[in-house]
Amino acid sequence: MRMVDLIEKKRDGLALTKEEIDFIISGYTNGDIPDYQMSAFAMAIFFQDMTADERAYLTMAMAESGDQIDLSGIEGVKVDKHSTGGVGDKTTIALAPLVASVGVPVAKMSGRGLGHTGGTIDKLESIAGFNVEIPTERFLELVNKNKLAVVGQTANLTPADKKLYGLRDVTATVNSIPLIASSIMSKKIASGANAIVLDVKTGSGAFMKELEQSKELAEAMVEIGNNLGRQTMAVISDMNQPLGWAVGNALEVKEAIDMLRGEGPDDLRELCLTLGSHMVFLAKQATSVADARQKLEEAISSGKALDTLKTFISAQNGDPSVVDNPQLLPTAQFQIEVKAEENGHVASIVADRIGTAAMVLGAGRATKESDIDLSVGIVLKKKMGESVQAGETLAILHANKEDVQEVIDRVIKAYHISPDPVAKPTLIYEEIH
Ligand code: URA
Repeated sequence: MRMVDLIEKKRDGLALTKEEIDFIISGYTNGDIPDYQMSAFAMAIFFQDMTADERAYLTMAMAESGDQIDLSGIEGVKVDKHSTGGVGDKTTIALAPLVASVGVPVAKMSGRGLGHTGGTIDKLESIAGFNVEIPTERFLELVNKNKLAVVGQTANLTPADKKLYGLRDVTATVNSIPLIASSIMSKKIASGANAIVLDVKTGSGAFMKELEQSKELAEAMVEIGNNLGRQTMAVISDMNQPLGWAVGNALEVKEAIDMLRGEGPDDLRELCLTLGSHMVFLAKQATSVADARQKLEEAISSGKALDTLKTFISAQNGDPSVVDNPQLLPTAQFQIEVKAEENGHVASIVADRIGTAAMVLGAGRATKESDIDLSVGIVLKKKMGESVQAGETLAILHANKEDVQEVIDRVIKAYHISPDPVAKPTLIYEEIH
């Protein structure tokens, strides 16, 4: 086989076979196929798209390009959740113990944050002592024992995707549905899940800004998962404002704990209950999605979900007393109010801008090497649909420096205030099966 012939075939809109796609991905991973040929191939896919079979072959080839996690030693249906990324998205921290508390085994591999979106691992590390570097054997043992463990991503997960994503970033080929869908799904497949629930974000703070695009991506991923024998469904959820109130590592952990206690913001609770009921149903721990939701609501009101969180934290050497005493989490030195400059109604809160403002405070990494400050961040006091008077508090900055004028300006710019009343936004747009 010659790469040039395969580029030509894709350029002309023909479908590649499994053997051809395997040849490309293994050749690219081991360095036999150079970047310039792979760039041409990515651009051919960008213009010619891929068939459902080609997308599944590409996903599998990338999943098999490095380590694959074998979860067969864990009893039960292993359901993974993936979010396409948003600001203030602390869902995993609340959702994982919530579904584990009703019997769903959660063997979660998570990453660190880069840029304005935070990573679950960073957030969990704001709990004193919490350790995510546990050997695979111990990881599996903990999931069997407590139904829940979280580890940091192994370095050699889907190396083909890592290399190709880097190349796409500099060849204007990121924004391609078959390439995005296979990239995300290859990591989920390599992480060993039997079933997958996807949270595809839509709106100004999401990777996909338009609902139609988000729907197309969700459908593509659901099709790939199901074609590869993993039961997969997607929920399309709103990212026209950050999720919940808190943005920043320790602040988000506190909010997740509040949610499991039955408090906290409504949107976070609703998203966790929606995603969670599908996870519980796919894991065969409920007779219907409605039954699953009832079980989850009971786990919150009985305190069972909170107990699972404590057990999970202790098992990974963290201090479980943060659950009853969230003031033990790292706290910032200063709390600075951001005041509204005009009267009106909150029409949107551009999530990326809030994320970037939190990053400037030190909550996020500008580069992979940056250190982050786990205590800092932003707590929103006004969300979409609420009315606001000039001089009222829009948000509170939790900072370790007093000179935060740049951050205040960024937060004010993130808020769009309309003179007319604004309806509360839809949280869940659609479910894709
Ligand atoms: N996230 C991924 O993991 N891959 C993409 O291609 C885009 C977003």
